[in-house]
Amino acid sequence: MLTPEMTKIDSLGPAEQPSPLKLSTTFGDGVVNFIPPCSAMPFRVERRPDQEPAEDVVFEKAGPREKIYFDPARTSAAIVTCGGLCPGLNNVIRSIFYELHHHYGVENVWGIRQGYAGLDADNPWPPMRLTPEMVQDIHREGGTVLGTSRGPVDFAKAVDLLRELGVNILFTLGGDGTQKGAHQLHQEACRQGYPLAVVGVPKTIDNDIAYVWRTFGFWTAVEKAQEVIACAHAEASSAPYGVAVVKLMGRHAGFIAAAAAVASQDVNYCLVPEVPFALRGERGLLSLLRERLAERDHAVIVVAEGAGQEHLAEEPEQHDASGNLLNADIGPWLVGHIKRDLKETGKLFTVKYIDPSYIIRSVPADAEDALLCDAMGRSAVHAAMAGKTGMLIGYWYNVLIHVPIELAVSERKTMSPESELWRSVLASTGQPIRIG
Ligand code: F6P
Repeated sequence: MLTPEMTKIDSLGPAEQPSPLKLSTTFGDGVVNFIPPCSAMPFRVERRPDQEPAEDVVFEKAGPREKIYFDPARTSAAIVTCGGLCPGLNNVIRSIFYELHHHYGVENVWGIRQGYAGLDADNPWPPMRLTPEMVQDIHREGGTVLGTSRGPVDFAKAVDLLRELGVNILFTLGGDGTQKGAHQLHQEACRQGYPLAVVGVPKTIDNDIAYVWRTFGFWTAVEKAQEVIACAHAEASSAPYGVAVVKLMGRHAGFIAAAAAVASQDVNYCLVPEVPFALRGERGLLSLLRERLAERDHAVIVVAEGAGQEHLAEEPEQHDASGNLLNADIGPWLVGHIKRDLKETGKLFTVKYIDPSYIIRSVPADAEDALLCDAMGRSAVHAAMAGKTGMLIGYWYNVLIHVPIELAVSERKTMSPESELWRSVLASTGQPIRIG
């Protein structure tokens, strides 16, 4: 159970310097405001019969503080992007840089190259000094101009390099693995007595970070996935007994598959890691599919990459460099079973398989994600300049908040089968609550 203690944010020391931002401290005067230190977002806003009220558990609201910890003239910052790509990485880099440079007057901003690997001086990618010219157009491009990689770093070496560069603030843009690394870096800096502010910006198209209602890049990925589903629908509905199977990313969480299915309204079965399904049996997927084809002559199935792993349990376990369990490939497995089953019907049929893979995440951010990237990037700067550390920017009931990294990485967000999103999936697909 969450306690007020667990949402407290670490700080490097008292914030005593006046902020250089020209904002107001008076609400109602028509001038945009500093965020007062007491501003908070309740953890729980919904009252539910099964839950105790948790009124004393709140998150700090993100945003500019009237008093800051760092003297901008004597502050250097660095930005690192790690893990898989995500639309909007360049937007966040750019907004962090411009907020530091133009508004706080921080001159030295370093780009750490190729993820955490670039924090090891023995690697061949020295940090680069960012300039306004360098970053001015980067938000129009997918990917990350800094480069990225998976895998850990020797945290003592990383703190050495940051110390050598004189870096006081490190922004870590990445998912669960990256933020776990950020937490270790924060702990290492504390152990060495080096006053380093470590502030994370949570990134992943999977949208699976706790206390972050939506990660940047997620909506863009959903938009791209929806385009793919439209193509799948065209394929399926243009052939007798036409089936199209679309596999979408989503390692442990089915948010992309679910959201794209609802957005498209073309999907008949959506399979996600959080909801097991049976293949065979009277109410299994293959029987349902036969029924659907007999009635409507076509079907679109969306399967998240992490779905149905229980069916592939005999496959050897593998992990990526970030330590994430790699899923066995559900797409071809499913297609193989569907083809074999439909063959038995003796009908003419077509099964098309589409795996857009990285295409949904290597694109630039759409407008909605661009807004979130900008807000998250600038909020990260405000938090860091105020001396907050060991935290990431969360998103709670549409408000940006500060979340201790330790808390955010202590659990993984998944899509609840009792959520509104899953209810919408069931309503729009018409699939039964349980397949099997
Ligand atoms: O960042 C999340 C994600 O896109 C997952 O959906 C996917 O499983 C994984 O990254 C693939 O990452 P990569 O192949 O780049 O290591």
